[in-house]
Amino acid sequence: MASPARPEAPIDLDNADTFASGIPQAAFASMRATAGLLWSPVAEGQGFWSVTRHAEVVEVSRDTTTYSSAVGHIQIYDIDEDAIAARASMIDLDPPIHTRLRRLVSSAFTPRHVQGYEGAVRLRVSDCLDSLVAAGGGDWVKAVAAPVPIGVICDIMGVPEEDHNYMIELSDHLVAGTANEPLEPDAYGNTTPLRMLPFNSPAAHGIFEYARWLGQKRREQPTKDLVSELVNSEVDGERLSDAEYTNFFRLMIFAGNETSRSSMAHLAMHMVQFPEAFDGAETEADQAAALAEEVIRYSSPILYFRRTVTAPTVLSGTALKPGDKVVMWYAAANFDDAVFDDSLAFLADRPQAPPNVAFGGGGAHFCLGASLARMELMILVQEMLARGIELEVVSPPVFVPSNFVNGIEELEVVVQ
Ligand code: HEM
Repeated sequence: MASPARPEAPIDLDNADTFASGIPQAAFASMRATAGLLWSPVAEGQGFWSVTRHAEVVEVSRDTTTYSSAVGHIQIYDIDEDAIAARASMIDLDPPIHTRLRRLVSSAFTPRHVQGYEGAVRLRVSDCLDSLVAAGGGDWVKAVAAPVPIGVICDIMGVPEEDHNYMIELSDHLVAGTANEPLEPDAYGNTTPLRMLPFNSPAAHGIFEYARWLGQKRREQPTKDLVSELVNSEVDGERLSDAEYTNFFRLMIFAGNETSRSSMAHLAMHMVQFPEAFDGAETEADQAAALAEEVIRYSSPILYFRRTVTAPTVLSGTALKPGDKVVMWYAAANFDDAVFDDSLAFLADRPQAPPNVAFGGGGAHFCLGASLARMELMILVQEMLARGIELEVVSPPVFVPSNFVNGIEELEVVVQ
């Protein structure tokens, strides 16, 4: 029997070009306004359902039993079972294994622990801003948005300062795997088939090799960093395997870098696009934190994550069966007018409840680094306000060609 026609999404969400100039607001608005879920075909007989409303992103995020991260792949394209196993980090697993792995690192990212990083973050932000001001401007991404978050996460991990730029390069090359262009398979000395590597990118090999080198050093001589913790601690009486450790390292470098960098890049754009929200703002922590939160909602640095359905269920009136793929578009849910009044307005005093879903809709996988990311961005807002920095964007922003991250590659600014 032919399956009933499925209402389809009005845009090609599987194509990085769809996001070439940012979030496709009009298409997402029409999807939110259409009852039920909309289907996107990606190959013969395959495709995914899009979740675009806030309440449904929360519902899917919190139900790891019905919506699995371990079955299938959390990005839009399907990969083989052996590749899923080879790439798995905690973000690709379900409780209880996920819970045991997360416990290894969670104490380093509690709000209280994150307070301890404040001085170091402020120093990095101040150095970058002072250099930009002295130069009169430049590429905001290279000068501020990229070096601050990678510096912070590398400090936490224990990656030496001289290797920070290499981590930025590798992380960029990982994201390049979500663009439309194919990558050179043998870059970074890679010999593993790309289908077995995270993001299908040879940069994953580069990150794994680096993780092994640093892990060996910390095994021989542990210090107080997270890599020492990872290579020397045990889960259920066993040390992490090579694949578990290297994928853990890769997740932390990618997640701690790419996302905060995007929000910092968008902050510069927002200050120019929505000056009235920043005019007269004070450096008090609560005002700066509210501005930072609105930047995070408005930029939604991670566009989506996918889940696989494990049992028959109904979501938003659409019947789902085991094996179906649902994609949670955080970037759509964050502009749901049912939750955010006048959602396209950038408001310094937007109510924070219910929270936006840029860090996920809650539940087991809620962003481990949310407190850290919020603090980094809040400090950047404070230090810019304290210096009275006003920016002019002098050429159109270059967006990262990806349907997974809402990143900005280059943003030429002049400091006024
Ligand atoms: C504005 C910055 C950031 C955004 C928008 C962001 C967004 C996200 C999202 C959407 C998820 C998945 C949530 C889910 O599946 O429910 C996630 C997970 C994660 N994030 Fe972030 N993130 C940011 C910064 C960071 C930072 C600074 C770190 C550094 C430690 C980090 C580490 C992680 C990790 C390790 C996970 C996986 C958690 C798990 O599976 O249990 N993130 N993040």
